[in-house]
Amino acid sequence: MLIDYDSKNKVFHLQTKHSSYVMGLDHGYLLHHYWGKKITTYRGSRPIVYAPRSFAPYADPTHRGFSLSTLPLEYPAYGNGDFRHPAYQVQLENGSTVTDLHYAGHVIYSGKKKLDGLPSTYVEQDQEAQSLDIILEDSVAGLTVVLTYCVFRDFDAITRSVRFENRGTKSLRLLRAASTSVNFRDDQFDSLTFYGSHNNERNINRRPLYPDMQVIDSTRGASSPQHDPFFALMRKNADETQGEVFGFSLVYSGNFAAQIEVDQYRTVRASIGINPFDFSWLLNSGASFQTPETVMVYSDCGLGGMSRTYHQLYRSRLARGKHRDRLRPILINNWEATYFKLSEEKLLAIAKEAQKAGIELFVLDDGWFGHRNNDKSSLGDWFVDRQKLPHGLSWLSNRIHEMGLLFGLWFEPEMISPDSDLYREHPDWSLHVPDRPRSLSRYQLVLDMSRADVRDYLLQALSAILSSANINYVKWDMNRHMTEIGSALLPPERQRETAHRYMLGLYELIDKLTRAFPDILFESCSSGGGRFDPGMLYYMPQTWTSDNTDAICRLKIQYGTSVVYPPITMGAHVSAVPNHQVGRITSLKTRGDVAMSGNFGYELDLTKLTDEEKQQVRQQVTFYKRIRPLIQFGDFYRINSPFEDDDTAWCFVSPDQSEAIGFYFKVLASPAQVLKAFRFQGLNPQALYENLATGEVFGGDELMNAGLNVPDEKGDFRSYVWQFKRVQG
Ligand code: DGJ
Repeated sequence: MLIDYDSKNKVFHLQTKHSSYVMGLDHGYLLHHYWGKKITTYRGSRPIVYAPRSFAPYADPTHRGFSLSTLPLEYPAYGNGDFRHPAYQVQLENGSTVTDLHYAGHVIYSGKKKLDGLPSTYVEQDQEAQSLDIILEDSVAGLTVVLTYCVFRDFDAITRSVRFENRGTKSLRLLRAASTSVNFRDDQFDSLTFYGSHNNERNINRRPLYPDMQVIDSTRGASSPQHDPFFALMRKNADETQGEVFGFSLVYSGNFAAQIEVDQYRTVRASIGINPFDFSWLLNSGASFQTPETVMVYSDCGLGGMSRTYHQLYRSRLARGKHRDRLRPILINNWEATYFKLSEEKLLAIAKEAQKAGIELFVLDDGWFGHRNNDKSSLGDWFVDRQKLPHGLSWLSNRIHEMGLLFGLWFEPEMISPDSDLYREHPDWSLHVPDRPRSLSRYQLVLDMSRADVRDYLLQALSAILSSANINYVKWDMNRHMTEIGSALLPPERQRETAHRYMLGLYELIDKLTRAFPDILFESCSSGGGRFDPGMLYYMPQTWTSDNTDAICRLKIQYGTSVVYPPITMGAHVSAVPNHQVGRITSLKTRGDVAMSGNFGYELDLTKLTDEEKQQVRQQVTFYKRIRPLIQFGDFYRINSPFEDDDTAWCFVSPDQSEAIGFYFKVLASPAQVLKAFRFQGLNPQALYENLATGEVFGGDELMNAGLNVPDEKGDFRSYVWQFKRVQG
């Protein structure tokens, strides 16, 4: 049993394979007791302490210690004694914003329900999970709040989401609605979050907690490259391989906020959900509101253990569709090869070289539609530019298929250029507010995805293109953030719903499109990894990790991204040197080894390579095809962090531990080179493994503990790869 309710003691005990999550009822309040390593039977050895504190209002007039200001409330309200940040806030018609939630019942059931209109993890069979709905009520407001928990049988993960229902006769206004709030009894943690920018996504930021508030968020209308809807709390002694880590990942692609608050008595309240900033939602009588889902992962094997749980769960029970379990094609993308200056002749020449190299998919990027010769026009006009492609898409796709390659196409559906027929016809279709100029970014505006007519147009326009040719792959781009967030169709009292309604509209459109074209492999992109989040991964099983294709910058970007997202989801391409983003020159080998650590491809003009380089590309492609199952479906171990050292190392181990591949990258050479070792992780210590390059055989324990020497060679930006196969044990 994954969820147990002890009716005598009024305690809920949720158990994954290695973790326990415990809540209890007292005075009708739902209190958090414990989250951590698995406890077989919870008997309450460390009960909640009701310490009377100064300045503490008490909810029970006969019990000074029963104060909401210190109790670990599972879904805290605002206004009646808890001075920490609430998980939610509701305004009543009388203007008051005070509410109070009391337990009204619960239901335990097999399986996992779908979330209305939102992406979420799922199960394929009811036995894979058990769920719990805890119903809380505020009878004055007529408000019902349903906290939903789901416990997976096969993953150390628990999901949470919340549904608000207005069961009263008057309207309510939701001002804040976190998906999750968890209290911890002490603050002996570091937080781990990401920060970044375009071309520089998901840098790791680990810092101690203080008695204050740490916040990461987005107000940009996208999860953004600046932050990611994820944070972890790590015990002080926790590192990559050991110690307790608590992960929180929000399945959402829009404005989010995560906050970690340490109070005066050094307890922690951590929460994540839709950003309450500039958000509100009108709940008329009978209406309900569903929050996005949080996926909470507990690991007592350090950050690496947490990451592998997210990887397995997101690969198999977040991503969906035909491509979920399939090997992903090696692609060539023409963007950095041609930018907007594309022609049939050039594209076919690149495709020909790609075919010779064994590449499997040709992707036609931006610039094929409208009159898009630069980024100043045509978004919204999804019609082939016959000047550039006189024979049309179908012809081009057929030529490419004849070569034995699949064909993919770029779109940026959520955007509209002021210089477009669509904008001239429908100026009110862009996000805007009355009487104010519309701020441009990359010369474009954002379509109002909350509008059904906009979504209908996009569904019809994209479907027409996708049906007009043999298209096997779509790159779904999104290259600016939202400003003047308002919708021409929403009444004034609902304007602050626009950003979330946009996300709901976007999800609805992508859902329809991916269902209508189930054979197409979709990859999401937002100027690279600007919307690399679980919400998008639900619909599109891979993401372009960053516009920065420099191999050395990519070490950090891919390392950081791997904290939550599996390598199969990370688009990683070999590009030209000097690199277009930073001007660095690295060897084709190093570029290949970095890109092969993810979902592999090329993004350069293959026709410009020397014969020797073309030969090397052929070898890389052949090699990747051999290791692809290991990279895309194996377990990933981070070994050396580029955020801590000049060297980066990681390895991939097949789930049955029969194969492993290790990568080591040295950034700068040193005149007094320290001798370095590469130590595998995740092997079977009892098994024997053969080095496929040299035939040498070593025990798994030796490879993990003594390790291998990293060659001591001169030169910057070197990379080394070791491939091992189990031969015994
Ligand atoms: C941003 C993407 O990240 C690039 O790969 C490319 O598709 C450009 N947009 C095209 O405008």
